[in-house]
Amino acid sequence: MAVDYFTGETRKITSDISAHYVDNARKLPWRVPPGGNLPNPYHVWLSEVMLQQTTVAAVIAYFEKFTRRWPTIGDLAAAEAADVMAAWAGLGYYSRARNLHKCALHIVENLEGIFPQKESELLRLPGIGPYTAAAIAAIAFGERAVVVDANIERLVSRLFAIDIPLPAGKAEIRQAMDGLTPASAAGDFAQACMDMGATICTAKNPKCAVCPVRDSCAARAAGDVERYPVKPPKKAKPVRKGRFFWIEKDGELLLSIRPAKGMLASMRALPDDNWAAGADGDTHPPFAGNWAVHENIVQHSFTHFSLEVDLAVYQNEKIVTDIDDNIWWPLTEIDDAGLPTLFAKAVKWKLEKRND
Ligand code: ADE
Repeated sequence: MAVDYFTGETRKITSDISAHYVDNARKLPWRVPPGGNLPNPYHVWLSEVMLQQTTVAAVIAYFEKFTRRWPTIGDLAAAEAADVMAAWAGLGYYSRARNLHKCALHIVENLEGIFPQKESELLRLPGIGPYTAAAIAAIAFGERAVVVDANIERLVSRLFAIDIPLPAGKAEIRQAMDGLTPASAAGDFAQACMDMGATICTAKNPKCAVCPVRDSCAARAAGDVERYPVKPPKKAKPVRKGRFFWIEKDGELLLSIRPAKGMLASMRALPDDNWAAGADGDTHPPFAGNWAVHENIVQHSFTHFSLEVDLAVYQNEKIVTDIDDNIWWPLTEIDDAGLPTLFAKAVKWKLEKRND
């Protein structure tokens, strides 16, 4: 029989979580205090896109940098896409930055610069999936939308001891969150649940002693809180090999622009040997010469594979290259190149080695 999540006990959980949030809400730059006016939709949208797959601690500085440089959605839409991509460097999952800029342009060009308010309309915008549409509708516009992120998944699966392993368990967890979500202030409630997941109902060593809903928690009653959410058996990630090429002349480093399609598309990067999620690179340098290869200098973890990187350093004076999009970048200003973290790690390794 399906579980009924719309009960008096569920109502009590909602009111206990909401009451706890009034005194314990984290102060975050995109938020307003609980019960206040609605926040700026541009801030909510920007923060929610940044927070997809990224922690609050990592996002705060990026959010502040973006809102200082582009205070409104109109400013962001008017920016060069390449500048937005470079400002995003280090946050990862770069399709989010491309879609962010596309979405800003769409809203300015087609919607008079005004965000749609309904979850179903938000879902049609570039880069906005079910989670983000629900979060923006609830937080920025006060709509009753059911918001489920990883923190909420953990909290809710524990409260109701939902046994179905993820990802199949997501539907049940969503139903339970639907039962918990109040008719008004759904945005405060969602953020209250996120904060509880981040600070109390943590994956390891949850702080049940200070949890406002510990007496309603089925996982705690069963004495097995960390079992939830139940995860599927782990698959080992494949390990790929890739090679980056270091070509330096007169204090400048040769960079290239990555292809417009595929991983880290259109970003500035070190030239490489075409490694990909599905195959090792071919180790071929961009031109013949004497290359000193340093093996496995950097490891980087992507969602579906890990990459081990070799760095090949060009040893000759004469540089013969027919690549048209060569960029010679001053090494003293390499931090401004907006290199994705993977490449920035290799540059750091090389520069530190020089100082040995
Ligand atoms: N994670 C995603 N959105 C969030 C928000 N609005 N507050 C805190 N953590 C979040």
